[in-house]
Amino acid sequence: MCGIVGYISNNSPASCENVAKILIKALEKLEYRGYDSAGIAILESNGEKKIHMIKTKGHIKDLCALAADKFSTLENCRAGIGHTRWATHGEPNDVNSHPHMSYSKEIALVHNGIIENYLELREFLTKHDYKFLSQTDTEVIAQLVEYYYKETHDPVKAVRTATNMLQGTYALAIIFAEHPDMLIAIRKDSPLILGLCENRNMFASDVSAMLEYTRDIIRLSDYEMAIVKADSVTILNRFDEEVEKTPVKITWDANAAEKDGYDHFMMKEMMQQPTAVRNTISRYANGTRIDFGLKSITREYLKNVRDICIVACGSAYHAGVVGANLFEKALRIPTRAQIASEFIYSDPLINENTLTIVISQSGETLDSLQALRKAKELGSKTLSIVNVEGSIIAIESDDCIYTQAGPEIAVATTKAYSAQLVVLYMLLGHILSIRNDDASIESRYLSECMEIPAMLESILEHKEHIQHLASLYQNCESIFYIGRNLDYALALEGSLKLKEISYIHSEAYASGELKHGTISLIKPGTLVIASCTYEPLFEKTLSNITEVRSRGAEVIALAREGNTKLESVADHCVWLPKCSQMTGPSIAIVPMQLFAYYIAALRGCEIDKPRNLAKTVTVE
Ligand code: M6R
Repeated sequence: MCGIVGYISNNSPASCENVAKILIKALEKLEYRGYDSAGIAILESNGEKKIHMIKTKGHIKDLCALAADKFSTLENCRAGIGHTRWATHGEPNDVNSHPHMSYSKEIALVHNGIIENYLELREFLTKHDYKFLSQTDTEVIAQLVEYYYKETHDPVKAVRTATNMLQGTYALAIIFAEHPDMLIAIRKDSPLILGLCENRNMFASDVSAMLEYTRDIIRLSDYEMAIVKADSVTILNRFDEEVEKTPVKITWDANAAEKDGYDHFMMKEMMQQPTAVRNTISRYANGTRIDFGLKSITREYLKNVRDICIVACGSAYHAGVVGANLFEKALRIPTRAQIASEFIYSDPLINENTLTIVISQSGETLDSLQALRKAKELGSKTLSIVNVEGSIIAIESDDCIYTQAGPEIAVATTKAYSAQLVVLYMLLGHILSIRNDDASIESRYLSECMEIPAMLESILEHKEHIQHLASLYQNCESIFYIGRNLDYALALEGSLKLKEISYIHSEAYASGELKHGTISLIKPGTLVIASCTYEPLFEKTLSNITEVRSRGAEVIALAREGNTKLESVADHCVWLPKCSQMTGPSIAIVPMQLFAYYIAALRGCEIDKPRNLAKTVTVE
């Protein structure tokens, strides 16, 4: 949530316009993290030593117009910071936008995270005659840094003392008018990555913002502070001792974050699903065996593990529901999926015999991170399934399996979800083969997984059928998703995709549960999307479809080819290739994603950046 960037160069002559352009370009790459307002602050390094700032409610394009006005004539500017916001404290408006200036206007900062004790700090500062313009927690940090800067005249000491008083999460970029030759970056629980270049340096919340300039990066750890100058970077640990960190080379393609001719990232990413799944399988397939390269979670541990708890949020949780269902049935040990934000405060019953699996595309989701920490505190071994390499969840878990989906930009996840599912299938095959001492199990699971990409391709090739269905139902006010067992897990994800991007109200229900209350909402014309891929309960779902149809609902049913009985009970059938029981959710989710996409497009919604949402959710 929120994207921050800092940039400093010693190019001479340096114009303010250039620095602004570089910051804005970087913010465009970070906009997926939050997009309700944006701003930049630039240091003027001539005699006057001043900070120039622009900020506005709205998207980065609104900021560009302001920048052109304000910065075209300023010279001697070599450094600045920028921010794109997802509002937490105070509505999205110009005043609450970042950067925030200190009272004297000599310090400016941008922040990603939440300061929990900001009201106490605000009270403390008010007693010392500080005044506040905004409702944000961030402005408090700017004033607090100034308070200590006035005492010490030392930016490093001021930042360290102020941040030591903060409770909560933060990644901060700070500039001081009196020190135009440096930026300060510091973090706790929110990501911050340094990008090293010749004659200039930068940092950002995400590598994608810096790929145009550098591939040499250093990830800051909690409490580390970086003093970033054009020709040097000094990193201090929490005791202000200098630490040496070796830069890592980023290998991914900068074009990965471009739309490649598609109207939206979401469509591009749906179309990339066969590749995402294929790459994930091939990273861990070793001939007919599965090898995740786990170090801390040994075969011995997996052989004896007594229960499994999968924690995650949103779509990652839905992948976990599929996984829990399959794991419990096959392994015959208690396995549950829990929503991370509930898990943390539920006094969870886990211990050293529990394997906790945390699933997260970004590897940054705060609820999931806290769930991971809670599980570790209780003695559980932790295994994460993460897409973003080097992210906090990946680093803090005992072992991590990286999905190979590549960068995912659209807020609505598609290819990362598909890659998570395939990792879960492979992990199940791996654990099952260890517990049964039977290598052929791995080879069987692997073969089933290898069939997925071609089936996804065949659905994506015929997407016009789904587009047609979307055109018929684009004006629905409410849409229900039903299914049993694995189809229920699928319904949860299908429904989330729809409401997230099309803003149509939607509910997911276990088909058998409808008659216990929800069926009262079904009236003539209500659309019900019924998943019927789980063969053992096919007949029962068929009865549930008949029940809603006899109350006037229109039904789109999804099932494997050949289930002709459906034709007489549903209004429309979406036929899926003949996948296995286990891989059904991977195949059936694609028409649901497409349906949500096409409806949202027909309704003119902003598909890649739905209202009120952000791609990475780093607040509780
Ligand atoms: O990065 P994560 O996988 O941890 O994110 C979890 C959820 O916030 C995420 O899946 C969210 O539900 C998606 N926007 C759904 O499309």
